[in-house]
Amino acid sequence: MTNVLYEVADQVATITINRPEALNALNGDVLKDLGSAVAQAAADRVRAVLVTGAGEKAFVAGADIAAMATMTPREAQAFSELGNTVFRQVERLPMPTIAVVNGFALGGGCELALSCDVRLASVKAVFGQPEVGLGITPGFGGTQRLARTVGIGLAKEIIFSGRNIDATRALAIGLVNSVYEPAELMPAALKMAAGIAAKAPVAVRAAKAAINLGIQTDIDSGIALEAAYFATCFATEDQTEGMTAFVEKRKPAPFQDK
Ligand code: HXC
Repeated sequence: MTNVLYEVADQVATITINRPEALNALNGDVLKDLGSAVAQAAADRVRAVLVTGAGEKAFVAGADIAAMATMTPREAQAFSELGNTVFRQVERLPMPTIAVVNGFALGGGCELALSCDVRLASVKAVFGQPEVGLGITPGFGGTQRLARTVGIGLAKEIIFSGRNIDATRALAIGLVNSVYEPAELMPAALKMAAGIAAKAPVAVRAAKAAINLGIQTDIDSGIALEAAYFATCFATEDQTEGMTAFVEKRKPAPFQDK
């Protein structure tokens, strides 16, 4: 799996797209390896996942343009479906995911970041959906997730213009959560992941599921969903320990994911 690196430390997985010579552009092999790494993170039941790009320049500079250049419509559909399957796998990971955007996040790169729960960016990060300048539309979920993240009007402007967005603008429109100096980005992401990892995992996963499923439904169904997830927490030892510790005015013991 040399196209994608996978490592786990302190219950946090880091997935690194590792094709720096092509600015981590996504071809079929890279996408398949990304799918394997995501499946591994799920199997390892880590408490948070970081997704980043190798090298100093790029998170992911997009889908591989050279590979797409000669595709037939049928091949293009299959490529889009492969990417969408993998990105849905990222989105559906039960634990929180953090995109650590260290440079260019264009086209499929921006779409990969959008598949994560949280986006942290370097001041050098550049976002954009330049596809219309190549004669194509976004194809890994950009038309759907960008609109859900920054709103329809801004998403349309970004996609129709194909213009790049710097980190300051990305922060202003809510495309990223926070921006850091390059050297501070990964430490900040690891700190955020460690903070999440220290919380009750069942509760964190339930909160993610409630948000992700609730956002797709009407408010009454979403509220009902939340109540059901809330209730499931009360069948856990972590809830008992978390609340008992508060009542007894002591720190809770480390949460056990039980
Ligand atoms: C293939 C890519 C690539 C890409 C960069 N490279 N982006 N190869 N696909 N998306 C390769 C270059 O060809 C080059 O290879 C090497 O990486 C370094 O890139 P340079 O262009 O020399 O670097 P620089 O001049 O710094 O410019 C950086 C850049 C530019 C502005 C990011 O590389 C760029 O515009 N890339 C394309 C961005 C893009 O349009 N992305 C959207 C793709 S469409 P060599 O061998 O020459 O050294 C898409 C659709 C998604 O993502 C949905 C699909 C279904």
